[in-house]
Amino acid sequence: MMIKACIFDLDGVIVDTAKYHFIAWRRMANELGFDFTEEENEKLKGVSRMDSLNLILQWGGVERTNDEKQALAAQKNEWYREYILKMQSDEILEGVEHFLEELKNKGIRIALGSSSKNAGTIIKQVRLEDRFEVIIDGNNHTRSKPDPQVFELGSEAMGVKPEECIVFEDASKGVDAALAGRFWAVGVGSPENLGHAHYVIPGFKDLDLEKVLTNIKQ
Ligand code: BG6
Ligand code: MG
Repeated sequence: MMIKACIFDLDGVIVDTAKYHFIAWRRMANELGFDFTEEENEKLKGVSRMDSLNLILQWGGVERTNDEKQALAAQKNEWYREYILKMQSDEILEGVEHFLEELKNKGIRIALGSSSKNAGTIIKQVRLEDRFEVIIDGNNHTRSKPDPQVFELGSEAMGVKPEECIVFEDASKGVDAALAGRFWAVGVGSPENLGHAHYVIPGFKDLDLEKVLTNIKQ
């Protein structure tokens, strides 16, 4: 196994923005007269903005025209941005910066592969923009996870093959995407949701590359 690069999902891997997405989507749902649970919110991880909106409207039994949906998504994004524009470096999840530093020192290339159109804003807010050689986000790809497109664009931009890349993902659909593209997949979270990954870690605390390489199930 020859690893040349790592591709990181953003939301739930580098920072915990799921809580802000939840607050903003819930506010929208509440204004439409229904609510949804944190358990349901789990199903929105890795899912694009419009696909998330469609799922939520379905849960609430609410139908809207395409124009109305565009307006709802824009409103939710405004609320969401109020939170992310307040983010600072202290919201980077524990161990992430140390791990990125290790990769840099070992000459491993680093890319971001996120479904979010706000990825650039968040990365700048937490001052990590210089860490990523390549940033692929919701603005430069069209096919949502579980399609591997976001990771393929990342590996292509770095000129490395999928089998030379490890993808770090907290969403089950993100792990599906990595596997579909024949990348090595490390799940960040619990084996209950992410057991199909090659290796599952609870987070980056006390993690080093050696530990990942020895634990990846081949
Ligand atoms: C993913 C999140 O990273 O980005 C999803 O896990 C979110 O919850 C998606 O819906 C799109 O984000 P944005 O910022 O473009 O609305
Ligand atoms: Mg994620």
